[in-house]
Amino acid sequence: MSDIPITRPLLDWYDIHARALPWRVPPLSNQLADPYRIWLSEVMLQQTTVASVKAYFNRFTTLWPTVQSLAAAPDAVVMAEWAGLGYYARARNLLKCARTIAAIGAFPTTLEGLMALPGVGPYTAAAVAAIAFGLPATVVDGNVERVIARLHNVQTPLPSAKSELTALAARHTPQTRPGDYAQAMMDLGATICTPRSPACGICPLMTHCIARAAGTQGDLPRKSPKQPKPTRRGTLWLAHRDGAWLLETRPEKGLLGGMLGIPGDGWDGSGSTPPLDLTWKPCAEVRHTFTHFHLILTVQLAQAPVGANPRRGQFLKEGQFKPADLPTLMKKAFEAATSAILPR
Ligand code: ADE
Repeated sequence: MSDIPITRPLLDWYDIHARALPWRVPPLSNQLADPYRIWLSEVMLQQTTVASVKAYFNRFTTLWPTVQSLAAAPDAVVMAEWAGLGYYARARNLLKCARTIAAIGAFPTTLEGLMALPGVGPYTAAAVAAIAFGLPATVVDGNVERVIARLHNVQTPLPSAKSELTALAARHTPQTRPGDYAQAMMDLGATICTPRSPACGICPLMTHCIARAAGTQGDLPRKSPKQPKPTRRGTLWLAHRDGAWLLETRPEKGLLGGMLGIPGDGWDGSGSTPPLDLTWKPCAEVRHTFTHFHLILTVQLAQAPVGANPRRGQFLKEGQFKPADLPTLMKKAFEAATSAILPR
């Protein structure tokens, strides 16, 4: 137990102010959360905001209300439903994990069992263990790191501070209601202990917060300077023929893996040549930022003759795919290219 007694005031605050979220069981309702819904929401919430995740979560749980139904879904359908959420490796791992759980028969009920699932790291395992199974596991995300750094006035910059913040967070995790405690920390970080202008005047931990007493809360958590992102350039080749577009399913490994896309020239490391020998004309430029680099792509367009036999991909008519099923970069490129040639 920690020397700063935050559990009681934090849970009392959460009992009144908990955000209503589609995957969440409200506090004091005495219901257990469904591990499938917690796991799915936590995977979606990695690198993605609560506001963006809500609609995807509702759609996924309507289509696939159980882990068994998700496990039985075709890869292409799940990848298409994931389109727009980004970080597509998450969707591939999601399916792999759902199939492992379906084969076992149920979610493992221990932290170690959860950690052994494909694609499940310490964060997701702790969140499912605490929220769905009531185990006193410590859940540390960016919100929790910020709350803890301020509460203890930790001056070490991130990312080196991670282990120190995790150890401090573990000292606060209670034996009773660890799931509500984890979600309360997240809500406090998201609504009161915000990155800029924290609302210290209404914080339930106000009297315990060492940074607030020292006036350092606005500077915490400190962060080591980031390496600037490099810019890569490349090309996409979009061939059309008779109302159909030449698209390909991308290789499983690598950027946008397993997603439908417009054939590219190797900005993603593939080093490929055009899918057809045609007279290509540049028609649009799209920009996109990935985790580690900025990307500027020129979209080259060409009309393919009837009977053209592409080296990669296949011609799909607009009825055979939805532009909305493309990952965001490809959707931007497709829309920029098609609006350059077709009046909308
Ligand atoms: N962010 C990540 N997981 C969350 C959760 N369970 N509730 C609210 N925000 C979150």
